[in-house]
Parts: sequence; C-alpha cells; structure tokens
Amino acid sequence: MDQFQLRDGSYHCDSLPLNELSQSVGTPAYIYSKKMLEEHCSALLDAFKNYPTDACFAVKSLSNLSILKTIFAAGLGADLVSAGELQRALLAGAPTNRIVFSGVGKQEDEVRQALSAGILMFNVESPFEIDMIAGLAATANKTAAISLRINPNIDAQTNAKITTGLYSTKFGLTETDLPDLLNRIRSQPSLQLVGLACHIGSQILDLAPLREAAQQMAALSTSVRNLGFDLRYLNMGGGLGIRYSNEEPPSVMEYAEALIQGVRPTGLRLIIEPGRSLVGNIGVLLTRVISVKKTPERHFVVVDAAMNDLIRPTLYESYHTITSVNATVPNAPTALCDIVGPICESGDFLGKDRQMPLPVAGELLMVRGCGAYGSSMASQYNSRPRAPEILVDGAQFRIIRQRETLESLWANELHGFR
Ligand code: LLP
Repeated sequence: MDQFQLRDGSYHCDSLPLNELSQSVGTPAYIYSKKMLEEHCSALLDAFKNYPTDACFAVKSLSNLSILKTIFAAGLGADLVSAGELQRALLAGAPTNRIVFSGVGKQEDEVRQALSAGILMFNVESPFEIDMIAGLAATANKTAAISLRINPNIDAQTNAKITTGLYSTKFGLTETDLPDLLNRIRSQPSLQLVGLACHIGSQILDLAPLREAAQQMAALSTSVRNLGFDLRYLNMGGGLGIRYSNEEPPSVMEYAEALIQGVRPTGLRLIIEPGRSLVGNIGVLLTRVISVKKTPERHFVVVDAAMNDLIRPTLYESYHTITSVNATVPNAPTALCDIVGPICESGDFLGKDRQMPLPVAGELLMVRGCGAYGSSMASQYNSRPRAPEILVDGAQFRIIRQRETLESLWANELHGFR
C-alpha cells in the first residue's frame, strides 16, 4: 500500500507528517518508507513462490546500506556491477550464494574480489571476459561459475537510454557467437557454465517483449544443454516498470506468470534482478521552494533540490509527480509552472509544464517515485553536498545517510593542494 498519504491536511510517510520530518532533517532529503519496501519484497517473493526462483536486487537502483540490509533480511540476494556494490552488499549482509555479478566491463580486481567472496556467478558479456575470469579463477585455485548474457535483439519498448536488449546496444553476446564461446569455455577447466542470462531493458510496461525473451532464452538453453553443458539457471534480469504518472504497469503476479510460463518447460532455476519495481515508489524527494518568478510564458518555481539530486527528468525526460506536502484549497487557481533547481543550466529541472496551484516561497514540495535511480545517481555538481536519506518506520525515522558536509566536498583534494 502507498504509505505517502494525505492525512489531516498534509502528506505523511507512514505515520510521520512530512512537514515535521523536514524540520528535523532539512531539505532536500530523500525519504523512504520501510513498510512499503518490505511489502514490495514479500509481494515479489510471493508471486514467484511456485517456481524455484532467486530474486537478486539490482543494487545500482538504490544502494544505501540500510535499504540493502532490509532487502537481504527479506530473503533477496544481490545483482551487482562493481567492486563498490560488491563491498556494500557484503557489508549489508548479502547471502553470497545469491549474488550475481553483471556488467559489460568487469575489471580484474573486481573479479578477484568477487571470486574471493564466493559469489553465485558472473554474467559474462564478452569473449575477453571468459578468458579473464578463467585466468583469475585458475590463479586463485577456484572454479568460477558463469552465465552467458545473451542479447536477444528484442525491443523492450522503453526509453532508448535504458533499452539493453537490441543489437544496437553494447550489451551481451549474440546467439551466432555461441558455438565459439562454448568451445572457449570447454577449454577452460576453471570455468563452469551454469546458465544463460538476459536483461532487455528497464521501466518495461508491456509484458510481450519479456515473454518473447523468456521463450527465446528457454529455447536457447535447450540447445546449449544438448551440447553437453549442465545448465542450472536462467536469468531474466530486471525491468518491470512502475507507475510514475498514469502508466499502467503489469502487476507483479502478471510479471511472474509471464516469466515462469516461458522458463518452466526448461525446469531451470529462475533468477530475476529487480530494481525499480521494488524501490521506485518507496521514496520521495522532499524539497523547499526558494522563490517563484513569473516570466512572459510561465512561472518558474525555484526549489532547493536540483539535477544533481535527481537527474532522471533531464537525462531521460522522465516524469515525476510533484505536489505540495500541504493540501491545497479545493478549486485553487492553477498556473503553468516549471519546477527548477538552482543549478546553472537550463537542463536543471525536476518538472516541466505543470499546471498546478502556484506554490509560494517556503512551501514544502515532494517529488514522487524517487526511490530508484534517485539518490544512487546523485552527484555534487555545482559543489552541492549530496542530500541525506531517511528511512521511516511507523512514526519513527532514522537518518540512513547523513547530508554531506561542505568540507567533504574537497576533502579528497587537500592531499595534493599546495
Ligand atoms: N539487471 C541488469 C543487468 C541491469 O542492467 C539492470 C538495470 C537491472 C537488472 C535492474 O533493472 P530494473 O528492474 O531497475 O529496471 N538509471 C535508469 C535505469 C537504468 C537501468 C540500468 N540497468 C533510470 O533512472 O531509469
């Protein structure tokens, strides 16, 4: 259930009024609902309970330690793409037998760290990686379990920047290369091919491409098994979309049904790598209006959050609902507004062309759908300290990442500063 509800004239997260919370933690700030996170995790696991499945949370979507700890405690594993994410996941208590390592450019040191942690497998994306992982595993006297990430050339019907299953993208290996790749793997005693993997894109709203991918991957895994490889897993990646405005994403049950239907004939264990669908809607970005100015065309509502805090609107032209934390008077007059940050470029906006009751300076706004790829993509551009992250549980809250200090902005520069 959505825990960001209007109650007694103002929005709450769970039972905590956001106005009150903003007094304690300041703005801008990311606020997450623990209850929603736990509900999403259990709904997902429940949807897949009738088929052997490992759900590995895509750490890149929201990599805060306390969030990860909650997700691992709920029974999920981790999908990661860097040594940084690996060490975060380990610190947060990830079950190493449910960690998969994806990514198109794994580096030697990252592979070494993952081998020594004893992760479940690497999703391999190039012939180069096959040899590299084989060599490092042999040196460490280990056998590395690998999956081949296949690019099925299927259009996920989503934003081009988050489409990953077409030949025009850098991801995965093609089916036609398989014979060579399999020979290469056969010649490496330190490798064990345990599965096939794919991830066709993110914010997927139509299940048809995922269905098609599952069927294609199932057929391919049969061919690979017929060549004598003892496959055990089929990894269908992440990608389930969420509602940001008026989208109608498939339910998690429909999503599970679509994948399981494709994979079931193989009997292989299913791996999924959900990110956004678990955490997207558990978080909002709280921001305060600095000033409002009128131009011949519109009003600009200048707020204290900016593209460094939330880059999705300008990077993907993505839509995030923005509302006042306080209920507006019914039938209040509206104005055409752009909600913009203080950063010195026109691309710095959180919302454009919004017909809304005109906010006033000092007003508290919330930007919804910011749990996934919000804080995890934040930067310090314009020397703006990154915003804190707050986890709300009932009427309690915990600061799970402190606001960065100004000193921390240049701390790593003092070493060479003369
Ligand atoms: N597995 C792999 C191999 C991935 O590359 C991704 C996301 C996921 C799983 C998780 O996908 P999800 O369930 O979250 O859709 N920054 C963009 C999204 C980038 C997604 C990158 N890969 C955004 O803000 O929309």
